[in-house]
Amino acid sequence: MKVLMVCLGNICRSPLAEGILQNLIDRQELPWKVDSAGTSGYHAGSPPDIRSIEIAQKYGISIESQRSRKFHYADFEQFDIILAMDSENYSNIIQMAENEEERAKVELIMNYAYPAENRQVPDPYYDRIDGFDKVFNMLQVAAEKFVDKHKKQ
Ligand code: 4NP
Repeated sequence: MKVLMVCLGNICRSPLAEGILQNLIDRQELPWKVDSAGTSGYHAGSPPDIRSIEIAQKYGISIESQRSRKFHYADFEQFDIILAMDSENYSNIIQMAENEEERAKVELIMNYAYPAENRQVPDPYYDRIDGFDKVFNMLQVAAEKFVDKHKKQ
């Protein structure tokens, strides 16, 4: 299975989501791939925000070699599941889809932890470091549920 994590800048939330899922994939030796992208290209080519790097490090996960890239249409073909961090990311991706099969690949990541509640992963960019810790823990729960659900299939 190929999973793409998407936020706005691809420097705060989706790099954490990618690192967390990659860690679960490695630990459980799953034949999966994970990548991340941003709906904006504001930070294309940049490493993750230092606060995301530091929070990931605190939990034993290394994300500093990731580089930000923009979500592009070809991602619908290259990935089986596209996980949006918030509803704005979700609608931006959905607007680029051209058919029902592509639209069906897009989900809000927190719905794995809280089904059908459409909860958001808050953008921590203008926040203090606690915002990043909270985001990390939300994503950890959602990623674990995601693995539990899909590894059975
Ligand atoms: P992210 O956070 O979408 O979680 O990577 C943001 C990073 C940068 C900006 C917005 C959100 N920005 O406007 O530059």
